[in-house]
Amino acid sequence: MSELFALVAGAFSLLCFYLYLKHNYWKRNGIPTVKGCVPLLGHMLPIITKRMNFAEFTRLAYEEHKDHSMIGIYKGTRPVLIVRDPNLVKIVLQSNFSNFQENGRKVVAEVDPLLSKHPLFTYGEAWSTGRNQLTRAFSNVRLKTLFPAVSGVCKKFEDFLNGRLKTSNKYEVDMKTLFSRFAGEIVANGGLGIEGYCFKDEAGASAFHSLAGNMFAKSLGAIVTFHYPRINRLLKFRFLPKSLDRFFRDVVSDNLKIRRNDSRLRNDFFQFMIDLEKTGDVIDEEKVTAHVVSLYLDGTETSSITLNFISHDLAVNPEIQEKLRKEVRSTIEKHGGLTFDALKDMTYMNQVISESQRLHSAVGYLQKLCTEEFELQGSDGLTYRIKPGMEVDISIFGLHTDPRYWVNPDVFDPERFNNERKQTIEKMTFLPFNEGPRICVGMKMALLQMKACLATLLSYYNLELSPRTQLPLKVSPLYILSEPIGRNWVYVSKL
Ligand code: HEM
Repeated sequence: MSELFALVAGAFSLLCFYLYLKHNYWKRNGIPTVKGCVPLLGHMLPIITKRMNFAEFTRLAYEEHKDHSMIGIYKGTRPVLIVRDPNLVKIVLQSNFSNFQENGRKVVAEVDPLLSKHPLFTYGEAWSTGRNQLTRAFSNVRLKTLFPAVSGVCKKFEDFLNGRLKTSNKYEVDMKTLFSRFAGEIVANGGLGIEGYCFKDEAGASAFHSLAGNMFAKSLGAIVTFHYPRINRLLKFRFLPKSLDRFFRDVVSDNLKIRRNDSRLRNDFFQFMIDLEKTGDVIDEEKVTAHVVSLYLDGTETSSITLNFISHDLAVNPEIQEKLRKEVRSTIEKHGGLTFDALKDMTYMNQVISESQRLHSAVGYLQKLCTEEFELQGSDGLTYRIKPGMEVDISIFGLHTDPRYWVNPDVFDPERFNNERKQTIEKMTFLPFNEGPRICVGMKMALLQMKACLATLLSYYNLELSPRTQLPLKVSPLYILSEPIGRNWVYVSKL
């Protein structure tokens, strides 16, 4: 009995010593550690127990160490560095990109074959090939070609709202769901040349937008996929639910059949991807499906989240809403309609979008991986020689609301982004689309669809906050992207 006790006590002491060594890594290396580290779980307890989302955690960590250029945390026992200093952010994202070219989030190719080809999860040759293809897919010329489809969706959007406002003069709606309909229909009509049924309630689960909520899993599996890639190599959690994998394979297969028997010349994203993945007469269906999943995944959720927050900011700032409406109306009048060039001319709208993204970025943090050893030197004198395999995170939330870079950071003020003041914004402190070689490849597409949506909305409707919205907005702990707790409820009424 006493031998057993000695054995258990010995094993326990060894475990304690092991954890002591692991959780003192940052102290040994002279890097300040964020408070709240617990044995074994490190700093992940609030994230695993769904009390906080990781982006919000990085904001608190960022704010806790106001005078430090870099800080250390532990994901379990694994040390992870957070860089705070804009100069270090620049090194990681841009100037020394080759030392940090991989993303920290991983999916397992065996269980997520379609997602594993997405640029977010690839690096090296595979990433640059995929990235080049997407850059061509979203060129200015292509976006202009796509515009008639975007206009068509704006018309459907207007008809949908008019339908809801037939029997009542105010339509109370969770704006995220409304914008998911819009963004889903854009992908279906503009990207794939098919009907998305996003504005038809009777289409139910077959409507494109109804997939969105399932797309970004809210399960523990999503946390493991994102934060514990090594453990996930064993557990093999999938990120893209099986039902969606099937849905997209069917969409592509049916659509390919239609196009094989239809000689009409098409110029959409789907055709671009088919031509790209064609050798002779053989189309690589798997690769085309992977592109379609990426398009849907990237095109819908981040845009509807961003539109959701913009609509909130406009609803609580009626004078800014009115100023933007004036710009929309006068620009449409000048161009004789809501054209591609009219949208380009709406510069105050760009300011409003940027300011809303600063306050509520859809993506709250970036997760990079060191791929080549590098000595990081902070402006506060801290130095750290980072080795391949170490994760480096950047708190977008923290940088976007740091009073060092933004006067009255909590105030919604689109004038921060006017032509003159924009020049004075410190580089690398505004990252809603990332920066450097991995900057969002769909940024122009996102802006085009968001501006078209907002122009339609503001031309004919007024936005007023519903008391159902919980103020101040707080980021939901249940989701990996940004979503307000209790959602954003707005009254839409005709002008
Ligand atoms: C408002 C809407 C959008 C926001 C806020 C947004 C934001 C971002 C951010 C922050 C990243 C960097 C992620 C990282 O490195 O961890 C990113 C990457 C990416 N985005 Fe977007 N995005 C938006 C819309 C779109 C759209 C419409 C598309 C395409 C249809 C798209 C395609 C991509 C792709 C392919 C990447 C990976 C780029 C790479 O790693 O090379 N995004 N986006």
